[in-house]
Amino acid sequence: MQNKTFKIGFIGMGTVAQGVWKHLEKSFETMTARFGAKYELAKACVRYISKKRGVDIPLEKLTENPYDIINDPSIDIVCELMGGTTDAFDITISALKAGKVVVSANKAVICKRGAEIFETAQSNNGAYFFEASVAGGIPVIKVLREGLVANRFSKIYGILNGTCNYILTRMERENASYDSVIADARRLGYVEADESLDIDGWDAAHKISILAYLAHGVWIDPSKDMLVSGIRGIRLEDMVWAKEFDCRIKLIASVRKNEETGALFAAVYPAILPLTDVVANVNEVYNAVSLTGDVVGRTVHIGRGAGQDATASAVIADIADAIAYLQGKPARPASNVVAEKSRMATLEEVSDEFYLRMEVPDRSGVLASVASDLAGEGISVELLQQRKHETEGKAWLLFTTHKTTEAAIKRACEKLKKADYVFDEPFVLRIWKSE
Ligand code: NDP
Ligand code: HSE
Repeated sequence: MQNKTFKIGFIGMGTVAQGVWKHLEKSFETMTARFGAKYELAKACVRYISKKRGVDIPLEKLTENPYDIINDPSIDIVCELMGGTTDAFDITISALKAGKVVVSANKAVICKRGAEIFETAQSNNGAYFFEASVAGGIPVIKVLREGLVANRFSKIYGILNGTCNYILTRMERENASYDSVIADARRLGYVEADESLDIDGWDAAHKISILAYLAHGVWIDPSKDMLVSGIRGIRLEDMVWAKEFDCRIKLIASVRKNEETGALFAAVYPAILPLTDVVANVNEVYNAVSLTGDVVGRTVHIGRGAGQDATASAVIADIADAIAYLQGKPARPASNVVAEKSRMATLEEVSDEFYLRMEVPDRSGVLASVASDLAGEGISVELLQQRKHETEGKAWLLFTTHKTTEAAIKRACEKLKKADYVFDEPFVLRIWKSE
């Protein structure tokens, strides 16, 4: 056991940071033994000191100025647990430049500015740990970088947003309304400060972008190079349809690589999964990450993907690594992959099977027109059903397709959106193939 006491400062003392504080305080003796060193919960920066918190922090340890922590030479480790991409970025860079080891759960800032953060850590002989940024309590970053170092990953996919999984599970089980369920998710501490990050798929996109970087060494910008859609458009009819076919709808984040062409395709969208896929059976706030490696084959990792304690577990693991690093253990490079040849796939190169739902007038000729628009794009229909609509004079048309390209579906949907025999844009789900 070293004599030095490692001092930890927190930027942000919300849901996650309070979990870390609570567990490190409660289990001091155990954690000291496991870390091989003593530690001190030295300071915490918040927006409002006067706010009531779930942990008791002495007033003299609280500040509203992050630089009270960054510029304190006695502080060794800075946990950035405030979120956001602007102040959080500046604070992270300043902390690394001040020689701190930084621990973060902030997937948004890593996805946006990870390259600069890792570069700053490296050029200052520092270290940046970010296990909690992907899949909450599942140590998937360690698994990918260390446990599965032998592998190239042709397919990574899974459920990476706890909030959406919680909402989909409750909607399906209880026929609950979206509004009642999101309120519970918020109360449980799952939801981002900006909840559209969760619901519209961006949070999962940030996470799959980080996994893609770790696996393939390239940064994928979700707003430019990823298909991203969230769970807002899903209706109970879709869930019922999926159930009839022994399937379930999940928000799936994925990155696939064609090893022959080097083409990478990354996406976040709701997809229909067969119940035979273990991922389809991962419910509530749980996340699942399926990693297919060329050496190991497929592995699937499941655990709570959001919430105070699950996330605190990952942050504390990083604090252990930060202390090990400060005791002389070298830090791992951010990505194992240095210069892998890859490029982003075009939508013409990516083929899947699709489910399309359309709201149409209940009159003759509509079906033929829709089918003709799909055929015009070379889309072959596998199954077609007309379902009763709650409004007189309207009907739901549900199609599934044989394998077709993303590009063809996009063109067909654009055409159908403009047609006077379809009320709204067709709603699209991918039919997920697990292998
Ligand atoms: P919260 O909103 O609960 O907490 C944010 C904290 O940061 C608050 O204490 C807030 O202060 C403080 N803060 C915000 N802006 C500033 C600022 N400009 N200066 C000083 N302090 C500031 O967020 P979470 O704990 O839920 O999330 C923190 C991070 O962890 C985010 O990056 C999030 O994406 C990530 N994360 C969250 C998970 C979860 O389940 N909640 C899971 C995995 C990752 P005050 O309390 O005074 O308002
Ligand atoms: N809001 C995120 C989620 C928190 O629901 O998954 C965990 O990253």
